[in-house]
Amino acid sequence: MISDTPIACSETEADALAVDETEWRRRGAQGSREGSITVAAIAENGNWLGTMAAYIAHPSVGPLFVGVYVTPDFRGTELGLTDSLLSAIEAWASNNGGRLTLHVHEANGQAQKAYSKRGFEFTGHSAEYSLDASSREVEMTKELIPTAV
Ligand SMILES: CC(C)(COP(=O)(O)OP(=O)(O)OC[C@H]1O[C@@H](n2cnc3c(N)ncnc32)[C@H](O)[C@@H]1OP(=O)(O)O)[C@@H](O)C(=O)NCCC(=O)NCCS
Repeated sequence: MISDTPIACSETEADALAVDETEWRRRGAQGSREGSITVAAIAENGNWLGTMAAYIAHPSVGPLFVGVYVTPDFRGTELGLTDSLLSAIEAWASNNGGRLTLHVHEANGQAQKAYSKRGFEFTGHSAEYSLDASSREVEMTKELIPTAV
């Protein structure tokens, strides 16, 4: 993910490669703790094709959408992988605050288009990108309707 789209990440490839097994396991466990969800599409051979996650960063913010990656061969609307992963995130978020919020790099046109065409809107808020103070991440949100459980 980092080498494919560095601006989608808040860590450099060099720093990620230096992370040890214990820390990766700690990060992995965060995705299944209370107040969070992680979904992944995994091929029969074990290769990960895509993953998305969300968590409640703070009750006033609601669900934050993070860790979004679909491997290039499985992108686009035809295969439906991006939509399928997002549907699972939205189903969870709709019952955990109702509004899904994300931050995307201002130069990440592909992700912005993918979000816009799926109903996310720019809020007008932005923040300095943690890896490059000369660029920004813009905020987008999508209001969700609670689903029956
Ligand atoms: C973000 C991501 C999950 C979106 O999934 P996807 O399957 O690529 O999304 P879609 O193909 O449905 O939509 C992307 C759109 O952007 C368009 N696009 C591609 N490159 C673009 C660019 N440089 N600028 C603007 N639009 C671009 C595509 O043509 C497509 O539009 P279309 O459906 O009208 O043709 C996927 O691209 C990805 O994993 N990217 C790398 C990681 C990343 O950026 N994560 C997001 C971090 S916030």
